[in-house]
Amino acid sequence: MTLPARVKLVEVGPRDGLQNESRSVPTHIKIQLIDRLTAAGLPVIEAGSFVSPKWVPQLQDTAEVLAGIQRRADVRYPVLVPNMKGFERALAAGAKEIAVFGAASEIFSHKNINCGIDESLARFGVVCHAASQNKIAVRGYISCVLGCPYEGDIAPSTVVRVAERLQEMGCYEISLGDTIGVGTPAKAQALIETVAERVPVEVLAAHFHDTYGQALANLITVLPLGVATIDCSVSGLGGCPYADGATGNVATEDVLYMLNGLGIDTGVDMDALLDASRFISDVLKRAPVSKVARAMSKG
Ligand code: HMG
Ligand code: MG
Repeated sequence: MTLPARVKLVEVGPRDGLQNESRSVPTHIKIQLIDRLTAAGLPVIEAGSFVSPKWVPQLQDTAEVLAGIQRRADVRYPVLVPNMKGFERALAAGAKEIAVFGAASEIFSHKNINCGIDESLARFGVVCHAASQNKIAVRGYISCVLGCPYEGDIAPSTVVRVAERLQEMGCYEISLGDTIGVGTPAKAQALIETVAERVPVEVLAAHFHDTYGQALANLITVLPLGVATIDCSVSGLGGCPYADGATGNVATEDVLYMLNGLGIDTGVDMDALLDASRFISDVLKRAPVSKVARAMSKG
């Protein structure tokens, strides 16, 4: 088994995590959380989204968050953008990187962004063009790559089609979302192998929610295939408001513990990460979902 020497961790807790909290988290708490994650050495921290505040009120203060965080020059703080209105808001707020987010399921696409896959790709094409003119980097997400809460099984060929289109329009990285965490290792392996026939594996990121407890097993299966970018969420926060029952992404602490054990470099400091995890868990008044955070807080 050949593992990558270094893995890039993309921290999505402040966006994927906090978008799913039933009560809004105050802006100053979001800012402190991101600053603590920056201090922990995360190289990419998703700071929020510029979507309709009617759809996701939890993140309507993303402009204030971007204005309040202490940005480190070598850390990227992308924000989600579904359309040109979101792009213009992101640009005005000083975002340097955005992420567009599509799906491999027609029904999920409608539920999440109120349009079908082809219509969403047309919108993203316009956003990517505007982004390149403004020297803004774009990441592309694909949801439901290993299953959909509405359509069930998803054909890998649909994932490939969307991934190719996102790459053609200029996305520098394609994050494959197991939105409801139903994937198992053989399926995850087959998916990466199929997508990597058309999109270089170096461009792919694994965005695995841990609803069924399979995320670490799926990650250890795809690492030897060349996937070296992992999305994860501090404390295991999160879910998707348009995928009932989906829980958070695999916890950053759990991924870091596994990678540290494998001798894979991430540049992330466990103690500082645990500090960020404790901070947000205390605010939310609940124990972290992360098993590593729980274990390491004992004694
Ligand atoms: P729509 O209702 O079809 O939009 O929603 P519209 O273009 O018809 O506009 C309706 C109203 O929304 C108008 O305002 C627009 O100005 C406004 P009104 O005239 O009624 O006052 N509007 C906006 N306002 C602020 N920012 C914007 C914006 N766009 C329109 N960007 C839309 C379409 C895409 C806007 C909506 O469906 C939406 O906001 N969806 C976002 C849902 C979302 O954020 N989901 C969670 C993130 S995805 C995820 O979690 C999955 C991921 O983690 C990967 C994985 O795990 O699989 C990434
Ligand atoms: Mg997600």
